[in-house]
Amino acid sequence: MEIRAGDMVMLVGPSGCGKTTTLKMINRLIEPTSGRILLGGSDITAVDADKLRRGIGYVIQAGGLFPHMSVAANIAVVPTMLGWDKDRTARRVDELLDLVSLDPERYRDRYPKELSGGQQQRVGVARALAADPPVLLMDEPFGAVDPITRERLQDELLALHADLGKTIVFVTHDFNEAIKLGDRIAVFAEGGHLVQYDAPERILADPANDFVRQFVGSDAGLKQLGLARVGAVEALPVITGTAAESPAELLERTVAAGADAAVVVDGDGRPLAWFPVAELEQLDSLPDRRTPGLPVVGPEDSLADALDAILVSAPGIALATGAGGRFEGMIDAPMLLQAVRLRQAEGSPETGGGSLRERGRPAGSTEAGRS
Ligand SMILES: Nc1ncnc2c1ncn2[C@@H]1O[C@H](COP(=O)(O)OP(=O)(O)OP(=O)(O)O)[C@@H](O)[C@H]1O
Ligand SMILES: [Mg+2]
Repeated sequence: MEIRAGDMVMLVGPSGCGKTTTLKMINRLIEPTSGRILLGGSDITAVDADKLRRGIGYVIQAGGLFPHMSVAANIAVVPTMLGWDKDRTARRVDELLDLVSLDPERYRDRYPKELSGGQQQRVGVARALAADPPVLLMDEPFGAVDPITRERLQDELLALHADLGKTIVFVTHDFNEAIKLGDRIAVFAEGGHLVQYDAPERILADPANDFVRQFVGSDAGLKQLGLARVGAVEALPVITGTAAESPAELLERTVAAGADAAVVVDGDGRPLAWFPVAELEQLDSLPDRRTPGLPVVGPEDSLADALDAILVSAPGIALATGAGGRFEGMIDAPMLLQAVRLRQAEGSPETGGGSLRERGRPAGSTEAGRS
């Protein structure tokens, strides 16, 4: 199994299949009985174990904080080992507490037993990030936090990953989390058997066997809609007008273009309303405010969000916007279908494979420096 430098790889599989063991072998808390583990090209058993671990942040399953040490002292473990001065360490501790949404004033001097399970997990994440290690091992780091906080932590981690280009090995039991975060997903079966190691869209579109299919769940198709962003779909152009003109003028241009509907935009090009030709004929003036419930989607919204907007909108379309909320065009359900099909085709091994994420990866971190 090869993990590319800068990738976030998700390990999933049934309880007891060896996910935690795999992480512990990477930082030598457990020595492999056979086989080799290379990091940046050199065998990890050839490196001093302490030195190795200083370059690897480890979020232990179920927190694993030192109970007799304060939150701040827990986070400062590695910086202290590295001999950072007090000020620098204290600044870093507060910065990290902010990052994981724990108020530093309130939490830095508490002890782990004075925190909830989810708060302890977040301190564990902060501790692993403290010395900015190039490699992160995360063992179910968000398992005990509520869905809303989890989503925020996932978004933070994605942003952090895109910014810093760390190599992350992440264990989860939540397949949706694996799809959302992973450049690749490794599916393990009992006995540490690696069943499939692939980009999320490949695992969804082409599971290796029934075991993987079962793991993915019955809604693999819908999950694929959650992977692609609206910005990657080319929206259909629509005739637009503004409140400055009369409905008759807009109607004339719409009919002349052979279109059956038009969109009213504001001075900055943001969508305000959508009218079929028949409705334009009835209007006295064009609106200068947005119609409540207008089905607008932004470039970062997923195709699942777009489908949702299409399903609840009366005309069965969504209005796609780009930078600054400017109207780009309309999207309908068949266009979503086509976008998913296209992704499936692009993701197939014959055409190169790999991850199709639009998500930014730092320049030069894709192929350079494989580990
Ligand atoms: N110290 C140990 N000595 C002997 N066997 C162990 C030890 N630790 C774990 N095991 C066994 O090794 C196997 C893999 O355990 P591991 O903790 O890696 O599973 P896991 O995939 O992380 O499971 P979970 O999803 O429940 O965390 C299990 O069968 C477990 O019982
Ligand atoms: Mg485990």
